[in-house]
Amino acid sequence: KISKIYAREVLDSRGNPTVEAEVSIEAPIKGSKKIVRNIKGRSIVPSGASTGELEAVELRDNDPKRYGGKGVSLAVNNVNKIIANQFTGKEFNSQQEIDHALIHLDGTPNKSKLGANAILAVSMAYARAMAAALDMPLYRYLNKSGKFTMPVPCMNVINGGKHADNNVDFQEFMIAPHNAPSFKESIRMGEETFHALKSILNKKGYSTGVGDEGGFAPNLKSNEEAVEVILEAIHKAGYTPGKDISLCIDPASSEMWEDDHYVLFKSTKEKISSEGLLKIWDSWIQQYPIILLEDGMAENDWEGWKLLTDQLKNKVELTGDDIFCTNPAILQKGIDAGIANSVLIKLNQIGTVTETIDTIEMAYKNNYNCFISHRSGETEDTTIADLTVATNAGHLKTGSGCRGERIAKFNQLLRIEDELGKSAKFAGLKAFKNQ
Ligand code: PGA
Ligand code: ZN
Repeated sequence: KISKIYAREVLDSRGNPTVEAEVSIEAPIKGSKKIVRNIKGRSIVPSGASTGELEAVELRDNDPKRYGGKGVSLAVNNVNKIIANQFTGKEFNSQQEIDHALIHLDGTPNKSKLGANAILAVSMAYARAMAAALDMPLYRYLNKSGKFTMPVPCMNVINGGKHADNNVDFQEFMIAPHNAPSFKESIRMGEETFHALKSILNKKGYSTGVGDEGGFAPNLKSNEEAVEVILEAIHKAGYTPGKDISLCIDPASSEMWEDDHYVLFKSTKEKISSEGLLKIWDSWIQQYPIILLEDGMAENDWEGWKLLTDQLKNKVELTGDDIFCTNPAILQKGIDAGIANSVLIKLNQIGTVTETIDTIEMAYKNNYNCFISHRSGETEDTTIADLTVATNAGHLKTGSGCRGERIAKFNQLLRIEDELGKSAKFAGLKAFKNQ
C-alpha cells in the first residue's frame, strides 16, 4: 500500500530545476503479517536539449522570475496535490497498474496536464520502492527474462551541435569499446582512450573543456577532424580501431533540418539535401569504423530516413531517436514503413516505466535493437543503468569519461556486474545490428 508520495524541485547537471519524487510503501516484514515497515523509493527525472517534437510534455512554470522560466513547481505541485491525493492509501498489484493509473489520471495523449516529468518521477520512484520492498535490486525488479547482459558503454567523447559552444555540427562522437571480456574492462578501455584524446587535443592546441555530456568540445577544422582525432586517441591508448573500439555517431540531424533541406549550421553554413547527407554517411561508413548511426536523418524527413534505411540497414545499426520518441505508436509506424533497425530509449520521452518497457518489447518482437540513453541534462539517478541490464539491450549511451552525473551510471553498472558475478555476460560487438 502506498503510504506517502512527495516531490520536490531539485537540480539537473546544467543547473536547471527538475522533479524528484519519493514514494513510500507500507510493506509487511517477512514472516509477519502484522508488523509493517515503510519503504521509500526516490527518483529524479532528466531533461533533454535536442528534444523530439513528439516527446511527452516536460511541464515547466514559464515564470520568468524563477530560473528563467525553467522552474518545475507546477509539476511538483501536481505530484504533491493531485497524484498524492489520488494514490495515497491505494494498493497497486504491478508497475503496469500504477503506470496506467497515472496515464489515466493525466488523461491527455502527451501527459501535458500533469507533466511527464511529474508522472515519470512517481513511476520510477514506485519501481525503486517496490524493488526495495521485495528485497531485490532494481535490475531484477525490471527484468522479465531471468537473463542479464552487461552493456557496451558508447562514450560520447566529442560533443558538438546543441550540446557544445564549438563549431562542430554533429552532436555526438562516441567510442564503443566492445572487444573486452567484461563491462569493467570495457570502461577501462574507454577511459584510457578518453584520456589519450585529452592529451592529443592539448598537443594540437585545442581546448579540452567539456560539453554537457562530458565529451571534449574543441573548435575543429571540420566534422571529419572529430573522427580523426578520436581514431588517433584509440591508437595512442594501445587499441585498434574497428577491432577493439568502434565508433557511433549521433549527428542529431533534426537540429540541422530546415523545412526541406539540412544546414551545417555551425561550420560552413552549407545547405544539403537528404541525398547529400546520405552521401556523407555512406562515405563515412566506408572510411571509418562506424557501427551505429543515430538520427542520421531528421524526425520530419521520413523520406530521407527511408533512403537511409534502404541503403545502410545491412551495414550498420540505424537508431531512431527524435523520430520515434520512445513512443510505441510511433515506433509501430516506423516498423510498418521500414524505417531504422534500432530505437533509442529515453524514459522521459514517453513518461512511464511501463510504456518504456512496452516500446522495448515491441522493438525486440520486430527484430529492432534498443539503445538505452541518458539525456543531456542528467542527475545522480541511475535508473537507466539497471534498465539496460534488465532488458538485455547490450549497449547504452550515458556520457563521456567524466562528469559525476554520467559516471554515476558507470559506477552503478560496475556494481551490478560485480554483484552478478559469473551470471553477467558482457554483450560485446554482437550487441550492435549487423555485427
Ligand atoms: P538530448 O540529446 O538529451 O539533448 O535530447 C541526446 C540525444 O539527442 O540523443
Ligand atoms: Zn539523439
